[in-house]
Amino acid sequence: MSRIKDAKLSKEGREELEWARENMPLLAMIGKRFEKQKPFRGITIGVCLHLEKKTGVLLETLKKGGASIAAASCNPLTTDDRVAAALADEEMDVYAWAGEDEKDYYKNINSVLDHKPDLLIDDGCDQIFMVHTKRKELIPSIRGACEETTTGVTRLHAMEREGRLKFPVVAVNDAYSKFLFDNRFGTAQSTIDAIMRATNKLLAGKTIVVIGFGWCGRGISERLRGLGANVIVVEVSGRLGREEGPAGQHKALEALYSGFRVMNLDEAATEGEFFITSTGNINVISRKHFGKMRDGAILANAGHFNNEIDIKGLEQLSSKRERVKENVERFTLRNGKKLYLLSEGRLVNLARPSGQGHPIEIMDGSFAIQALSLEFILKNKLPAKVISVPRSIDDEVAELALEAKGIKLSKPSEEQESYARSWKEGT
Ligand code: ADE
Repeated sequence: MSRIKDAKLSKEGREELEWARENMPLLAMIGKRFEKQKPFRGITIGVCLHLEKKTGVLLETLKKGGASIAAASCNPLTTDDRVAAALADEEMDVYAWAGEDEKDYYKNINSVLDHKPDLLIDDGCDQIFMVHTKRKELIPSIRGACEETTTGVTRLHAMEREGRLKFPVVAVNDAYSKFLFDNRFGTAQSTIDAIMRATNKLLAGKTIVVIGFGWCGRGISERLRGLGANVIVVEVSGRLGREEGPAGQHKALEALYSGFRVMNLDEAATEGEFFITSTGNINVISRKHFGKMRDGAILANAGHFNNEIDIKGLEQLSSKRERVKENVERFTLRNGKKLYLLSEGRLVNLARPSGQGHPIEIMDGSFAIQALSLEFILKNKLPAKVISVPRSIDDEVAELALEAKGIKLSKPSEEQESYARSWKEGT
């Protein structure tokens, strides 16, 4: 029995879903095979994702494969109530609405877990965390999970390091077919789109500070430059809990050599007209920065959690916090300056109504990886670790995405294959 905002919204939700479906050729292909083979017959999938139209098409695809679906949102502001109503109409159990408070947010995830899922899909790791802390009795029957996002995968690695992870979780985020496109091009378009919808302001000629130059920050910076913004990139040195990958200083150099201005936030705070956080870390814009900012500066977060901007600190420095319009709040600082916060500091690209999530074609690729990885978990006995998406799935999804766009790559010749494996002679 679903808990949603308004069942009467389902007609509009069906229209949204239809539009997404028409633009998701990979899920359509996978859905056709699932319909025949029913890989999820008898399987209940517990879902904790941003419940919007593209997610809806993923859930329909899994349902075609025989799955029963119970779904909650992975963020209190990101449910499209129209889509939630349409999915509830399609015999899925949906526990989500836009504007949940914290208590309802966790209650809804808990209601999903009451369905005793065999598989989980998570975005940010809140559902997996809840199973491991408050619903441990479910662990023995859970065959595995998929995690969608960088933040979730980081949490899972911490759980694995401490010996706390009790079932296999496929790190969907880390597939090339996911992060190279979703994190970079998807986050760029959806973040900028949401900021433009919320503010309706011109970005050309503006000084915009992008904090974090991972795949998301890189994409946001590149696209903002394309719109004529003057982009300043902020990074910090070190690896912040990670051992792999480039350090902050490598990313800062990459930003510099890409033609961006690079500085620390103490310096950039005085210059920015917009600030966009995309770091996955906490209190990145903190109390010491707000006072330095220009009057009218706009703050937005594109990271998973609403802790990148120190909102409590901002509130304490302010004499007034007030709603201006949907997705925009004004903070009047005691020094008289006004700062504007978008979408309560929650991930701006998905917080409704201005946030609509990544473009449909991008989510088609990411969710194709999700669907195939869930099937992979059922077909294989995997250890209770963070598991990489198999190369075969990752390569196939990229190939299918090209094919869907009418692009067919030629194969290297045998001579080229063998040359690539040889101790090459120069001449
Ligand atoms: N739509 C559904 N899930 C999403 C995600 N993780 N990022 C952006 N758009 C989405």
